[in-house]
Amino acid sequence: MAITISPVRIADVRGSFDVTARALARTSEVIYEMPLTEEARDIHVAHRTKKMLAAEAATANRGEEPTEKAFSFKAVDTATGEIVGVSRWTIYYQDEPVTKTIEEEAMSFLTPALPQVRTKALYAFRMCLERIGRKSVALPPVKEGEDLNSVKMLSKRVYLDVLAVDPSHQGQGIGKALLQWGLDEADRLGLVTFLESTNQGRPLYDKYDFEPTTSDTLDVTPFGLDGVLTHTGMVRQPKIKN
Ligand SMILES: CC(C)(COP(=O)(O)OP(=O)(O)OC[C@H]1O[C@@H](n2cnc3c(N)ncnc32)[C@H](O)[C@@H]1OP(=O)(O)O)[C@@H](O)C(=O)NCCC(=O)NCCS
Repeated sequence: MAITISPVRIADVRGSFDVTARALARTSEVIYEMPLTEEARDIHVAHRTKKMLAAEAATANRGEEPTEKAFSFKAVDTATGEIVGVSRWTIYYQDEPVTKTIEEEAMSFLTPALPQVRTKALYAFRMCLERIGRKSVALPPVKEGEDLNSVKMLSKRVYLDVLAVDPSHQGQGIGKALLQWGLDEADRLGLVTFLESTNQGRPLYDKYDFEPTTSDTLDVTPFGLDGVLTHTGMVRQPKIKN
């Protein structure tokens, strides 16, 4: 199977959304009332499109170096033209001042209110990721038992927001190929790479020299679901190239 990797364009937002929902089925069932109706999916896709356009406009033609920038890539199966994997990165070129509490950060994901979102579950999920971030990349590092809302700065970093490969295409090197771009950028820029791994992602990141920092487990039974959702903060140091 041949695949190509290239940047996500506006026309790809729907395909990217769909492959992410399929790959991250467990996360999707926690944060959305699944299955999404066609109408709900259209609204989610329109929202993502708007965010992508806003991010592009924010970094275009400013004549100055951005402090952070988002990059998304798609893996396309050349035989079918279908999007079979996506990655979404944000590079923080400078240390990032923390301006919101963990609660405010999590709340910001609830606006605008989108259809079929399980509001309380999404809030709890974002709180969990936010806690992992502050425990993993705060400057100075947080101490055991420290109030995470006292963190003032997060380290500059390459952040992997999403890595998702369609279940029908997993185990064929696509995840690895999508990951490589960010690791190369991190090495070129001399930055750490940070992500919150699902349990399924762990073997891949272990292979690429990521070290676990902390795990956070979300009990999803209050949302009418079974079990827990566990994420592990993982950090990779840049490779010094001579
Ligand atoms: C995690 C994920 C992105 C990996 O993508 P993939 O295309 O299946 O992985 P690859 O085929 O590129 O595998 C890369 C390497 O990791 C190893 N690997 C990947 N998944 C593995 C698993 N579950 N168990 C053991 N090894 C695994 C492969 O053996 C391979 O090693 P190699 O280079 O020595 O051959 C994919 O399984 C996925 O989308 N999962 C659901 C979404 C998710 O959890 N994403 C991670 C979010 S943090």
